Amino acid sequence: MLDKKLNFLIKKEKERQKKEINLIASENFVSREILEILGSPLVNKYSEGYPGRRYYPGNQYYDEIEKLAQHYALKVFNLSPNKWHVNVQPYSGSSANFAAYSALTTPKDKILGMKLSSGGHLTHGHPVSLVSRFFKFIQYGTDKNGLLDFNEIQSLAQKFRPKIIVSGATAYSREIKFKKFGEIAKSVGAYHLVDISHIAGLVSAKLHQSPFPYADVVTTTTHKTLRGPRSAVIFCKKEFANLIDKAVFPGLQGGPHNNVTAAKAQAFYEALKPSFKKYQKQIVKNAKVLADSLKSLGFNLITGGTDNHLILIDIKSSFGHKNSHINGLIAEKLLEKNGITANRNSVPGDTSPFNPSGIRIGVPAVTTQGMKENDMKKIAKRIYTILSDVKN
Ligand SMILES: Cc1ncc(COP(=O)(O)O)c(C=O)c1O
Repeated sequence: MLDKKLNFLIKKEKERQKKEINLIASENFVSREILEILGSPLVNKYSEGYPGRRYYPGNQYYDEIEKLAQHYALKVFNLSPNKWHVNVQPYSGSSANFAAYSALTTPKDKILGMKLSSGGHLTHGHPVSLVSRFFKFIQYGTDKNGLLDFNEIQSLAQKFRPKIIVSGATAYSREIKFKKFGEIAKSVGAYHLVDISHIAGLVSAKLHQSPFPYADVVTTTTHKTLRGPRSAVIFCKKEFANLIDKAVFPGLQGGPHNNVTAAKAQAFYEALKPSFKKYQKQIVKNAKVLADSLKSLGFNLITGGTDNHLILIDIKSSFGHKNSHINGLIAEKLLEKNGITANRNSVPGDTSPFNPSGIRIGVPAVTTQGMKENDMKKIAKRIYTILSDVKN
């Protein structure tokens, strides 16, 4: 019997998810099939090791499931199994990045990654992340318009000679030029590691420049635009396969979460369907219409707009204000009170991640629910009504 308190909380959360307008750029709604796989008896088994090389008996079906997940994962990104390998066991994006760094470096090697305040992820070198205890990070930012500054990246790479250059972001609304990053990495003899956690779905649908021709290793979460379970995978050139596999297991993790591996296989299977490409196209269309509508209502957008699934609003300088008292935190709370969830976010020049000036808005979840351009216009107006109503 389900615990009463737990039952109540799950019921309430289901209601919350139904009622809210979810604009959190890193969230999505998985298919019924993925939900079923996650709750299946596959959760009962231990499978430490890799297909054909397990430390437990009884793994004949798990070997096939893992190989299927690998097969579909490579296919989604059009990668030849002769040139690329994929490890489908990482528990999450953070552990995937940690494993990938440790595979390619020795402790205290230098890594060049993007600052959190400019749109990078914690695991790209923020001091509070454990990655910073094991590796020495140098960080690049964005210019005053919030755009990547390749002159700065090139000069930091030349000055510090990192072993890895990390590209990819968690809050960046423009296309990332992976080719340029790859050239810089090559020029200083660094590996190029790309984290496409946010944009993986767009990359798979060819709506964003692919990192694969310019990268040595590519990590991605599977639960954002990819619309799979909460997890991650690591792609690498064949020559790094052993290093990456060893870093994931036994280096960092124990047994893989088999129900999640199967759910990842299903997510990649779904991503191979034409309807998934259509979904990704709609994401980009929706984000553009939402950005244009917000702009015309007086919101100040970082970089002036979007090329992908997300938008960054500088709330403090919106509606002609230089420094309004409404910051990202207040805006986040006001929106939540009114049924819209979107998270506060740093904008260029911010110093406190807890009290930043911006809000990050993403459309993958509402696009999964079937919303289209007209709905985006309505959402923009609703956000305007909620946030412009507050006296400055
Ligand atoms: C770019 C990027 N990398 C890594 C991660 C970490 O993923 P996880 O939360 O699964 O550890 C995130 C999560 O938001 C992300 O945006």
